[in-house]
Amino acid sequence: MKALIVYSSQSGNTRKLAEAIHHQLSCEKRILPVAEAPAPAPGETVFLGFWLRGGKPDPHASEYLAKIGKTRVFLFATHGAASKFGARPKRPFLCKNTCPDC
Ligand SMILES: Cc1cc2nc3c(=O)[nH]c(=O)nc-3n(C[C@H](O)[C@H](O)[C@H](O)COP(=O)(O)O)c2cc1C
Repeated sequence: MKALIVYSSQSGNTRKLAEAIHHQLSCEKRILPVAEAPAPAPGETVFLGFWLRGGKPDPHASEYLAKIGKTRVFLFATHGAASKFGARPKRPFLCKNTCPDC
């Protein structure tokens, strides 16, 4: 697999998640903010990260998603809803204590 990780992030949460995914993937990969992201190359899987704005994916990520056509896409997101359990995860779920932020 080849991975193109694209993220839209205003305050950095989604960027951190994108970086954790980038760190964990062992395939050929590249990571870019959505403003600099090219169209995916043939055979590339897009990992697209967005943040929730007004109950919807943010407009930059939505615009990119609409442009890329038929491509295999893995979506991930961050949002600001309160946790039912009163606690927030300390690190992205994919992280196994090996990424630079841990
Ligand atoms: C203008 C604005 C609107 C938002 N709307 C929502 C929302 O509708 N639902 C939600 O769960 N979080 C909402 N959030 C919280 C963001 O989705 C959350 O902080 C997210 O992690 C930000 O991602 P970023 O740090 O990558 O920019 C909103 C934040 C902002 C600034």
